[in-house]
Amino acid sequence: MANKYKYFVGNWKMFGNFSSLKMINSVNYHINKIKKKEIKVIFCIPNILINHFSKKLKNTKILIGAQNCHYLQDAGPYTGSVNANMIKNAGAKYVILGHSENRIEGDTDEIINKKIKSAINNNLKVIFCIGENLLEKNKNLTNKILLKQINKGLNSINTLKKIIIAYEPVWSIGTGKIPKFEELNKTVFYIRKKLSKKFKDKKTVNILYGGSVNSKNVVQLNSIKGINGFLIGGASQSKKKFIDIIKNCYM
Ligand code: PGA
Repeated sequence: MANKYKYFVGNWKMFGNFSSLKMINSVNYHINKIKKKEIKVIFCIPNILINHFSKKLKNTKILIGAQNCHYLQDAGPYTGSVNANMIKNAGAKYVILGHSENRIEGDTDEIINKKIKSAINNNLKVIFCIGENLLEKNKNLTNKILLKQINKGLNSINTLKKIIIAYEPVWSIGTGKIPKFEELNKTVFYIRKKLSKKFKDKKTVNILYGGSVNSKNVVQLNSIKGINGFLIGGASQSKKKFIDIIKNCYM
């Protein structure tokens, strides 16, 4: 089965407050004008906004996600943490896991694996981030790192139905740099090949690209066949930039 949707996922990181709903409403207004039905727009927002935003956006095309969660399913002595059940209960449909900013803060492949399982058990869709850092890239270790992250992160998970892969080279996040076309093409192909060895439902897996996506570079990025959409950080915090990215994919 071919991949049906093109994904535009905003990762707000530590951005946004209650009045930022206005911005999402204007994104919604613009996507309604796009004739294509196969578009999924997801905003992964700070936890405190999830409940309010998901209620207000209920009858729109916009879906709400969280940016991380604890690996435990139940209550526990983890000050400041929220688990998958809590974010699901608040109205999130998706959760980003394995983001390099969380890996830097201590999320190992094993912890990420537990988080993914917990999210799936709670009926959340997972946006699973993988990517090499600059040192690894310079040592030609990209494929090796990606394979390790895939194997460990998806250890003893047997379907990709609830998983979207986001390939985000760490050196590209927030830097304005993106991989060369050919390089990215090959890497995405490699990820798909490795997933197809590991899983039966390989063909339908959605692979997003993330890292410094903007309205200009998205035109070329969008021409890479194996890419099913984008994980957008900085540019998702501006309605104009985010809308322009979407528009430029449908011009
Ligand atoms: P960026 O962030 O678009 O600002 O590079 C992407 C991300 O961190 O997911």
